[in-house]
Amino acid sequence: MTAGELLERAARVAARAHAPFSGIRVGAVVEDRAGGLHEGVNVESASYGLSLCAERAALARAVAEGQDRVARIAVARADGVPIVPCGACRQLLSELGDDALVVYEGPDGPVERPMRELLPDPFLL
Ligand code: THU
Repeated sequence: MTAGELLERAARVAARAHAPFSGIRVGAVVEDRAGGLHEGVNVESASYGLSLCAERAALARAVAEGQDRVARIAVARADGVPIVPCGACRQLLSELGDDALVVYEGPDGPVERPMRELLPDPFLL
């Protein structure tokens, strides 16, 4: 699957987000190392700080489905505005795929960027 196809899928998934407070609907698709795909959306809470990002929802789903090694993750908004993973999502992603590629909409089309570039010094135990 091309980066563009993965991003299109993330944008479609974003339509299912639960975002009554911000109105920003985000979708993410994890591609595991076996080629399987795992979708996630942001889920907001009235207690705003509890809100869950789409990327971490997709990562949790991949793990629940028995795939804890990430090859790529794509993130997109339903409205097409470009988005990149927040810091918290970068941290978890780096733990599940430190050599993963992050796919997002760049200024000139889809970008595939190594996770290590987005979070060079993750917290580790
Ligand atoms: N959000 C994500 O789903 N992923 C990110 O990487 C950044 C932010 C969500 C959280 C919240 O529901 C909405 O976008 C606005 O911050």
